[in-house]
Amino acid sequence: MKKKFVTLLLGTSFVLGLAACGGGSDDGGKDTASAGGAKIFDQKCSSCHGGDLKGGMGPDLTKVGSKYSKDQILDIIKNGKGQMPKNVVSGKDADEVADWLSAKK
Ligand code: HEC
Repeated sequence: MKKKFVTLLLGTSFVLGLAACGGGSDDGGKDTASAGGAKIFDQKCSSCHGGDLKGGMGPDLTKVGSKYSKDQILDIIKNGKGQMPKNVVSGKDADEVADWLSAKK
């Protein structure tokens, strides 16, 4: 009886621990910008650039941070580029995803 309770407790804290580590998936918004950027990319950009950034219809972005600064990426997001539509994301989302991508070097 007692042992079962302990197991339950351990199990619960394990799940909680996992949730804490994997965090950032909820909409708390207080997490690091990078977690938000990854999520936004996944939702808005990966259809053309690939979930792993390796490209698809759009170019490979795995090293985009060494090619463009955050501001330049933001500019591409705002104004579009070639076949890429402008304003796929805007405001804070654009800022976060640009920040996240500029770290891809
Ligand atoms: C509809 C498809 C599509 C979507 C959605 C899209 N892109 Fe693109 N993107 C492209 C294409 C195509 C290009 C190549 C444009 C060119 O150089 O002619 C491109 C180019 C870029 C470039 C410049 C790459 C380089 O090496 O010059 C960046 C940075 C970029 N996209 C970021 C993003 C981000 C961030 C998002 C999501 C907010 C996004 N894209 C969403 C199609 C897309």
